[in-house]
Amino acid sequence: MHKKGFIFDLDGVIVDTAKYHFLAWKKLANSIGVDFSEVQNEQLKGVSRVRSLEKILEWGNKTLSEDEFMKLMGLKNDDYLTYINNMDESEILPDVTRILNILIEKKQAIALGSASKNATSILRKVNLLSKFEAIVDGNDVSKAKPDPEVFLIGAKLLNIMPENCIVFEDSVAGIQAANTANMISIGIGDEKVLHEADYIFKDFTEVSQVFIEHIISNKIQPKNKISINN
Ligand code: BG6
Ligand code: MG
Repeated sequence: MHKKGFIFDLDGVIVDTAKYHFLAWKKLANSIGVDFSEVQNEQLKGVSRVRSLEKILEWGNKTLSEDEFMKLMGLKNDDYLTYINNMDESEILPDVTRILNILIEKKQAIALGSASKNATSILRKVNLLSKFEAIVDGNDVSKAKPDPEVFLIGAKLLNIMPENCIVFEDSVAGIQAANTANMISIGIGDEKVLHEADYIFKDFTEVSQVFIEHIISNKIQPKNKISINN
């Protein structure tokens, strides 16, 4: 049996925290007189907290002093954390735990590769922290997705070559990061959005044990965009 490195994004892949980011950003944007829609929220997926606020200010044609900027970032995160504090295992997305357990049973290496600085506390909240051998999050990277840094650090911590790693991602930037890192990219979400991925599934309920076994046994290669009969 081959040992592969499976690297999971967090927001939108393991838990549906995008809805909480949306509520917190909307409240903040509206408080400074900027409209904020769900369509705009899509563009913040996988994007760091700093860059997200920069984009909102651009959309609203606003400029802020550095102090005000930092204050608003703090307010957004405080608000976001009030939602996170109420999270529990019921918010794990469908079949995530099934896939993690298959990988653990098959002695595969598992890491988290997220832009969020709240990643560890969220994993603890939903009781999944112990399933991850390595955590790479927004506190560890200097370059945001689509830069591959977050996944390359993950591979290094797992001690697995990048070409033997597989990334699960729901954002375009994350898929591009995985492709640049020379890893198999698996999009979780809308195929129209994630078409640059090697494989795309609506959610983990579509990912079969056979598919995972084929990845582990090298029957599935990157950029091999044939449809898999799972
Ligand atoms: C990403 C989310 O995972 O993390 C983004 O998709 C978010 O929406 C980013 O802005 C940073 O998260 P946090 O928790 O550090 O503000
Ligand atoms: Mg995500």
